[in-house]
Amino acid sequence: MTETNSSESSITTNQTDSGTVNLLLSRRSSTAADMVAPGPDAAQLQTILAAGHRVPDHGKIGPWRFVIFEGEARTKFGQMVAAIFAVKNPEASEKLLEFESQRFNRAPLVIAVISSPVDHPKVPQWEQLLSAGACCQNMLVAATAMGFGAQWLTEWYAYDDDVNNALNLNANEKIAGFLYFGSRTKPADERVRPDLAERVRHF
Ligand SMILES: Cc1cc2nc3c(=O)[nH]c(=O)nc-3n(C[C@H](O)[C@H](O)[C@H](O)COP(=O)(O)O)c2cc1C
Repeated sequence: MTETNSSESSITTNQTDSGTVNLLLSRRSSTAADMVAPGPDAAQLQTILAAGHRVPDHGKIGPWRFVIFEGEARTKFGQMVAAIFAVKNPEASEKLLEFESQRFNRAPLVIAVISSPVDHPKVPQWEQLLSAGACCQNMLVAATAMGFGAQWLTEWYAYDDDVNNALNLNANEKIAGFLYFGSRTKPADERVRPDLAERVRHF
């Protein structure tokens, strides 16, 4: 067993951290609609953000940023989403508009992960997009490890130019995901998954 040289890490080589492995092999998303308070507190939020920030990042660009929605900010965002939805769907019922206005109120905490790629002589934008996806997954895993339910959603409002403008996204930016976090009200059953063996070949 050999200690690494990193001053930041106490990771040892060739030793299984079975807690982490089990988490990765068993993680399940929770449904945002089934989440309740309490969500992560300030310190836990910081931990989730730090985990999201610690991802592989070719060129050390950091091509992502995070926007946090808690408390009243969730309602404010929902009202904006419902107003945009109403303009595009003039036939929408009051019930549907109410549903749209409550999108972020499904969970105590929502983090928008924004992919923010730059033109770089060596690092393709594709790789920068992947790095933002890694931010999302790291946050889901961290929150799950901390006992919270977590879900990565996009839904229509991740792809709407008016919503993007209201969130002050630049022209090059995209929503990688809206991540919902909260206390679980029910355990998630396992779901059908693609067959691993069918997707693996030795070259
Ligand atoms: C980029 C991305 C966007 C997603 N958007 C949605 C969505 O809008 N609605 C939805 O029901 N699931 C969405 N999902 C899937 C859920 O986050 C989740 O992965 C799925 O319910 C399977 O659960 P699991 O994570 O436990 O395997 C999305 C997943 C990814 C990676």
